[in-house]
Amino acid sequence: MAKSIPMQILTDAQLADLVSRSSLLEGEVSKPKVLLDADGYIYKFFYQPSRKLSSRTLFPPFKQFVKNSQTLSKRNVQTVSVCDTMTAQDKRFDAIRYQAIEGHDFREHLKQSDHSAISMIVDIMAELHHQGVFFRAIHLGNILHQPNGDYALIDISDCWFSFGQLNAFKRARNLAHLMNYHSDKSYFSHYGNDRFLNEYAIKSKLSKTSFWFIRAYVRHKGVKL
Ligand SMILES: Nc1ncnc2c1ncn2[C@@H]1O[C@H](COP(=O)(O)OP(=O)(O)OP(=O)(O)O)[C@@H](O)[C@H]1O
Ligand SMILES: [Mg+2]
Repeated sequence: MAKSIPMQILTDAQLADLVSRSSLLEGEVSKPKVLLDADGYIYKFFYQPSRKLSSRTLFPPFKQFVKNSQTLSKRNVQTVSVCDTMTAQDKRFDAIRYQAIEGHDFREHLKQSDHSAISMIVDIMAELHHQGVFFRAIHLGNILHQPNGDYALIDISDCWFSFGQLNAFKRARNLAHLMNYHSDKSYFSHYGNDRFLNEYAIKSKLSKTSFWFIRAYVRHKGVKL
């Protein structure tokens, strides 16, 4: 069972103080989404949905984040480790605190390096799928590249885990999402969509049928092969 972390109250005065001594990574000063404080901690905020009845009310994303972080670690996938969970006095948001990981997201990393660096993504996808990890929010902005060459996942509220490896359908959905993502698709086409999938198939030791299915699915979703 997931380890639960006690919930603290973050008052509006504490929030204002936190914002004043942090860099805003995402969102606005009046409604921060991601903050980085001077001690190297990240605060990620999850605002309540405007609709009263929403799946996010029943399964709050911050709780999913904490649970997924623990499951990913158990499956030897590097990710953030949540140290605190907080809620606003008026409950308008929940927040989590975790240590920032050194490095840049892969989108930034690819801008600064050769496009062939995307071959690392082949290995990462094969590894995640082998570990039975279906990371729905997969895109190059949610994978960090660390200076030692390791990777780590961030933004992990939306994951699903299988008992064994992922099946061909889940692999195909995940690859189609990654290769079609508006900010990233040019990196894949530059590298070669076919080349990327061929290398993934070899790395994952896919059967001919699975590879055929994945190619057909990904093409059906608009990836040019
Ligand atoms: N653990 C971390 N270490 C280093 N940088 C991080 C970490 N977590 C987040 N960041 C930085 O903050 C940015 C935004 O974080 P994150 O992806 O969690 O939020 P988001 O993309 O705004 O969320 P959402 O996708 O839910 O809208 C990342 O692209 C990354 O640059
Ligand atoms: Mg993100």
